[in-house]
Amino acid sequence: MTVLADTRALDHLADFPAIPAGWAYLDTAATAQKPRPVIEAITRGYAEDYATVHRGVYQRSADMTLAFEVARERVASFIGASSPNEIVFVRGATEAINLVAQSWGNTHLKAGDRILLSTLEHHSNIVPWQLLRGRIGIEIDVAPLTIDGRIDLDAIEAMLTPAHKLVALAHVSNVLGSVLDARRAADLAHAVGAKLLLDGCQAVPRVGVNIADILCDFYVFSGHKLYGPTGIGVLWARSEILESMPPW
Ligand SMILES: Cc1ncc(COP(=O)(O)O)c(C=O)c1O
Repeated sequence: MTVLADTRALDHLADFPAIPAGWAYLDTAATAQKPRPVIEAITRGYAEDYATVHRGVYQRSADMTLAFEVARERVASFIGASSPNEIVFVRGATEAINLVAQSWGNTHLKAGDRILLSTLEHHSNIVPWQLLRGRIGIEIDVAPLTIDGRIDLDAIEAMLTPAHKLVALAHVSNVLGSVLDARRAADLAHAVGAKLLLDGCQAVPRVGVNIADILCDFYVFSGHKLYGPTGIGVLWARSEILESMPPW
């Protein structure tokens, strides 16, 4: 949704060339407009620096590979990951969650295991689990919200059982903007031996995310909501979990 407004005071809009003068762009939660440095970096990447990554032995390819790995290191430090090896580049948060469901889920879950979601999840954090339910017979529980629109962690505490192997929740809601107490969610999941996956699509652009403090097991987010390109996203998981996931 784009709303016309008097934005003469917002000089920084000059840095977003796709936002015309006089507009206030209010749809950043769905997808962010791209700042000029991002557009220039993408253009430079294709117009000047482009070559294969991790597949060539010539200088241009080595430079491109280095740039690619520097990006991975910057993403890792941006979210407080302990190693760049824990950053898996994917096409977006939807693909990241599907990757966890397909690879980790297929390997570590069996019929009768339960996973717990909440009623405010984005479809990206519902459908992959429904597909897994159809394929291997897991059960899905859905936690309610509090009266003020937060995921009800007291209810989750009461719902969780040792049959739960995964809790998958939005860190910040794309509908309500409510912020999850992620550390408590991790403690509750771990108390019954479940893993915690956080959908960080709305959190990473807005709140400082430090994986080391949250102690979750999977964290996913997308580039296009973070002022980056469309078509790239991140799956973070601890190394030992990634090691246990077969290629998909
Ligand atoms: C909370 C949340 N999860 C997942 C997604 C999907 O992200 P992507 O477009 O990277 O697949 C969105 C985007 O609308 C979102 O807001």
